[in-house]
Amino acid sequence: IRCQSTSTDETKTRRNVVDNASNLLTNLLSGGSLGSMPIAEGAVSDLFARPLFFSLYDWFLEHGSVYKLAFGPKAFVVVSDPIVARHILRENAFCYDKGVLADILEPIMGKGLIPADLDTWKQRRRVIAPAFHALYLEAMVKIFTDCSERTILKFEKLLQEEMLHRGKTIELDLEAEFSSLALDIIGLGVFNYDFGSVTKESPVIKAVYGTLFEAEHRSTFYIPYWKIPLARWIVPRQRKFQNDLKVINDCLDGLIKNAKETRQETDVEKLQQRDYLNLKDASLLRFLVDMRGADVDDRQLRDDLMTMLIAGHETTAAVLTWAIFLLAQNPSKMKKAQAEIDSVLGQGRPTFELLKKLEYIRLIVVEVLRLYPQPPLLIRRALRSDVLPGGYKGDKDGYKIPTGTDIFISVYNLHRSPYYWDRPHEFEPERFLVERKSEGIEGWAGFDPSRSPGALYPNEIISDFAFLPFGGGPRKCVGDQFALMESTVALALLLQKFDVELKGSPESVELVTGATMHTKNGMWCKLRKRGDAL
Ligand code: HEM
Repeated sequence: IRCQSTSTDETKTRRNVVDNASNLLTNLLSGGSLGSMPIAEGAVSDLFARPLFFSLYDWFLEHGSVYKLAFGPKAFVVVSDPIVARHILRENAFCYDKGVLADILEPIMGKGLIPADLDTWKQRRRVIAPAFHALYLEAMVKIFTDCSERTILKFEKLLQEEMLHRGKTIELDLEAEFSSLALDIIGLGVFNYDFGSVTKESPVIKAVYGTLFEAEHRSTFYIPYWKIPLARWIVPRQRKFQNDLKVINDCLDGLIKNAKETRQETDVEKLQQRDYLNLKDASLLRFLVDMRGADVDDRQLRDDLMTMLIAGHETTAAVLTWAIFLLAQNPSKMKKAQAEIDSVLGQGRPTFELLKKLEYIRLIVVEVLRLYPQPPLLIRRALRSDVLPGGYKGDKDGYKIPTGTDIFISVYNLHRSPYYWDRPHEFEPERFLVERKSEGIEGWAGFDPSRSPGALYPNEIISDFAFLPFGGGPRKCVGDQFALMESTVALALLLQKFDVELKGSPESVELVTGATMHTKNGMWCKLRKRGDAL
């Protein structure tokens, strides 16, 4: 949506009428007033002009850290303030659910953690979080490495073929390649299934992409026509979606059946002490099935796996894609990264211990997540009325939030907020090493890397919620460390072997967004072996 300046009286009047009607409707729908909150207004047609989060940023600068976005009869409260985000995500987390997001994802993920109702979520989170323990993550580093090497081998082969024709570079859509890589990793890490999508196509892979595509379509399509009775049978894309879901569900059901048939029931502590590095199957599914007392019906288990498949796939692929986009525009930073890789890994493979030494690569990954958070917005709906903390620009007393209010926490705005970051739009991985005082920002504890001792990657704690790439509070991402290490390994292995350039200009890379930010036509790059001049 673009906040348009009204040029004629007629337009002004029309806008006022629409706005008054929309305010009235919103208040009726949400059962109360949002008080003196600034209002950004937009026309529904503007929704399709450019990704929503760009406009939300412009309005943030214009209207402040908490404002109401009204279009038609619908209104959202947009939050771009760390103290308010901390309140909603952590301090009063159970006053909110996933609202619109749950409506969209429930048909795909069922009662998986992301859209789950509170009771189911509490029960399943307790079971799933311990599965991401330290030894599991250590074992995953081997899977990240094996899968990344498979991708690199593919690139090397393509390059060799090219060299037969005297070429020294290959051109590839790295976004598509990273998507395949992330799919292979999530399949092996979560349910010990090798999609092998880097080298082949299969009906299951097609179904996964079909499902992701539909999830994205639903998150950008504002009228949930798929809820209309019979739509799933009549609308061709809905029929295809049902077929895709069936293909994936059948595959997951088979894996669950197999895991249950080979079940070795034991306690969580014993599971966490298994010899993970030598296990044939170190997957989460194995853990979840073997865990004593965690008896769960197959349907719930399938919803959990599906959720992790979707949540952990495109997100990581997007991090790698934007990392290359940013590094290609900053050759000195690419060189600095490669120098670190050479000194830490040489020509060898990463291990859990070596990851600790790849500090610059880890900072690149988090800086990419700062500039391109996935997803750019977190969505909530108030289950009860609430009062937001005051003190931010705009309202000292804090706004009242009526029951049913829909909220966007704009992670994009927070991560690029001029109030909390110096040179907010610049790619500077080094910024995470520098302490930043709160400088009189009421209620914000400042940015202090020492606040989270032992953490390999900067997180929402050190930044007091000014940086929240994985959310925060009880519903924070369970796969955060998995994803961060995966991205670090994949990036390190790619840069160990190749120099990368964008094929076209950075401006020609068009950004589109659904659940994640991705490109419209791929991230086309030129790759050449390191050291080879063009
Ligand atoms: C939740 C981001 C990778 C599984 C979340 C949330 C964010 C996020 C922001 C919180 C959503 C909210 O509060 O509304 C990311 C990013 C990733 C990533 C940026 C990659 C770079 C993964 C991976 C997995 C995963 C690899 C699983 C293997 C989940 C699950 C939840 C979640 C299950 C829901 C947690 C809950 O509600 O208890 N993720 N994620 N994510 N993520 Fe991730």
